[in-house]
Amino acid sequence: MAQEDVFKKLVSHCKEYGFVFPSSEIYDGLGAVYDYGQNGVELKNNIKQYWWQSMVLLHENIVGLDSAIFMHPTIWKASGHVDAFNDPLIDNRDSKKRYRADVLIEEQIAKYEDKINKEVAKAAKKYGDAFNEAEFRATNARVLEHQAKRDALHERYSKAMNATDLNELRQIILDEEIVCPISGTKNWTEVRQFNLMFSTEMGSTADGAMKVYLRPETAQGIFVNYLNVQKTGRMKIPFGIAQIGKAFRNEIVARQFIFRMREFEQMEMQFFVKPGTELEWFQKWKETRLKWHKALGFGDDHYRYHDHEKLAHYANAATDIEFLMPFGFKEVEGIHSRTNFDLSQHEKFSGKNIKYFDTEINESYTPYVIETSIGVDRMFLSIMSAAYTEEKLENGETRVVLKLPAALAPVKLAVMPLVKKDGLPEKAREIMNNLKFHFNCQYDEKDSIGKRYRRQDAIGTPYCITVDHQTLEDNCVTLRNRDTMQQERVAIDQLDNLIAGKVSITSLLKTLQ
Ligand code: GAP
Repeated sequence: MAQEDVFKKLVSHCKEYGFVFPSSEIYDGLGAVYDYGQNGVELKNNIKQYWWQSMVLLHENIVGLDSAIFMHPTIWKASGHVDAFNDPLIDNRDSKKRYRADVLIEEQIAKYEDKINKEVAKAAKKYGDAFNEAEFRATNARVLEHQAKRDALHERYSKAMNATDLNELRQIILDEEIVCPISGTKNWTEVRQFNLMFSTEMGSTADGAMKVYLRPETAQGIFVNYLNVQKTGRMKIPFGIAQIGKAFRNEIVARQFIFRMREFEQMEMQFFVKPGTELEWFQKWKETRLKWHKALGFGDDHYRYHDHEKLAHYANAATDIEFLMPFGFKEVEGIHSRTNFDLSQHEKFSGKNIKYFDTEINESYTPYVIETSIGVDRMFLSIMSAAYTEEKLENGETRVVLKLPAALAPVKLAVMPLVKKDGLPEKAREIMNNLKFHFNCQYDEKDSIGKRYRRQDAIGTPYCITVDHQTLEDNCVTLRNRDTMQQERVAIDQLDNLIAGKVSITSLLKTLQ
């Protein structure tokens, strides 16, 4: 199945099974804003718990914070967001559609890369085992031609972006003959800068209302509180502060479902270190974070690092952890060595001394910061896309199953009486009433047992138990495994231990140690 079709199916699956709904749907929706349904909110909460516990429970020197969404507007001046948190946008005069100029050019670069990959795939098929990919890439005339065009474009684009040269960006679009996908024309406007922050007013106009912003990242709440946390928690460098919360960006190109949203959630951790040690910590966090992702068991080939060639002016190292989505490898998490830029800026703009006093060396300094920043919604999308599976069964039917990591699954166990009579529902309820304190259980007695299994497969429930007539005699149930579909007889009093060990976040966290 083409990856585009997989993605379409995933989006409709998310809606059909209560994971993600378009926001304000009965009013025809609101662009790039989504709501999480009954199963989505459970999965999202489990992702957040996995992240939070891996940070705050597993590290003695990391504590949490929950700062407000509204902050003093000068914070965004100091951080650079008021002046520089912009996207270059361009309009097509015929379709009246607006695009990000950088995205149009990046898509053009990707087209050259696609052409190269197609040549390689064609040759690999033709030559079979005898195919030498490296040699082919280095010598094939068509590959070399595409590669040269790709490299020249990439270099020109990087230069224009580094210099924020908007005229050059437009010229690249014209020279590459990039057309609007809707109108098919090259009738482009000038490129303009567009600030991504949403703003509103605080206080009544009579009092003199203040323009405030909806935070575009949670990180600044951590920076402006770092000394409060350090002093009240008697934290010693190195230490970290973790936060989960909403962020808002007025994205121009808001596409690909929950990949790029206007309201989304971030899980960010700022790690404060002694100047000069930051690159060592950057490397440690790079490894720690990749391990956290890989522990979910989707396979190492689903992940790769993308080290930034072009660094933001405040960073001295940066990498993304990318995940293989149905539309290619995409950024899920950023790890940045942000130097002491943010804290120095806040010191300058607030006029307050926010230096850390290091008692070990009797000196004050502005700490350096390593940041790990991951989007909850992007993580959610990566998990759903890797988990969504269509399986052909021996009887010719197809089953749709979400192979979610058990610890993240919204429902851990479905309890089903084989029939709706003979005391089986009562027995099933009794079992569920004991287990519901330990993990999320769902009771289901409607339809055939086969249909009920399919419903649970579709929401990723790792285990189902069936209560049958024999249960009333031997106090055992049939336990069915979602992935293998194998069934075994298990004593009711062993269920709690057997299942809890497999579905708890604790067991997942232990694999990180
Ligand atoms: N404090 C650093 C920061 O915000 P970022 O790379 O802009 O860095 C970090 O964002 C993460 O937040 C991204 O890796 C992504 O997972 C998520 N994210 C950013 N913009 C998003 C959007 N519009 N929709 C969903 N997730 C987004």
